[in-house]
Amino acid sequence: MTDITANSTTVDAKAYRQTIGLFATGVTVLLAEKDGEVRGMTANAVSSLSLNPTLVIVCPSKKAHLSEFLHDGAYFTINILGEDQEPISNHFAGGWGQTEVPEYEFIPWDAAGTAPRLGGCIGALACCVYRIHDGGDHWIVVGRVLDLHQPSGPYRPLLFYAGKYDQLRRQEMAHLMPSADAYE
Ligand SMILES: Cc1cc2nc3c(=O)[nH]c(=O)nc-3n(C[C@H](O)[C@H](O)[C@H](O)COP(=O)(O)O)c2cc1C
Repeated sequence: MTDITANSTTVDAKAYRQTIGLFATGVTVLLAEKDGEVRGMTANAVSSLSLNPTLVIVCPSKKAHLSEFLHDGAYFTINILGEDQEPISNHFAGGWGQTEVPEYEFIPWDAAGTAPRLGGCIGALACCVYRIHDGGDHWIVVGRVLDLHQPSGPYRPLLFYAGKYDQLRRQEMAHLMPSADAYE
């Protein structure tokens, strides 16, 4: 494979973060469990990948404590935060000590494996690590989706845009279950 990094000029990291930060996302907390210890990490580098098989991508930093728990076949959950869960996002983004620890609950997910889900989320996916690829200073973790948690709504997601939290302004959208066939 050609090494395209060999002769390329480097892009300024700060400018890159500012530009890619215009790509608005939701916010999740990834949870993985090993020997009874649960580790969580706030993440927005999350993407749907494939329908058949059902695959999703998450990208934890190689330095993240969670990464030690993610190996082939390991279970993890992707917990989609609601707009009222900003303190929980901050907590799992390393905000320990800065603020009071917010209330949260790990709920067992027996059907799909050992990783629990986070209570109060607007949706969650139970996954098993399918592949792990190198992604520079991050891992590209491909998860096989094993089970879904679909609360009845309303669905008011926490958003992340330009380095800040945000919320949906279209109130009416929040009560609709997202279309399952928006695109193929
Ligand atoms: C909104 C938001 C999204 C984030 N997304 C990611 C991500 O996708 N991957 C990542 O490695 N870190 C991400 N982070 C940073 C981690 O949550 C943070 O570095 C965390 O402290 C890592 O966990 P650790 O301290 O237990 O290692 C994000 C932080 C925030 C606030």
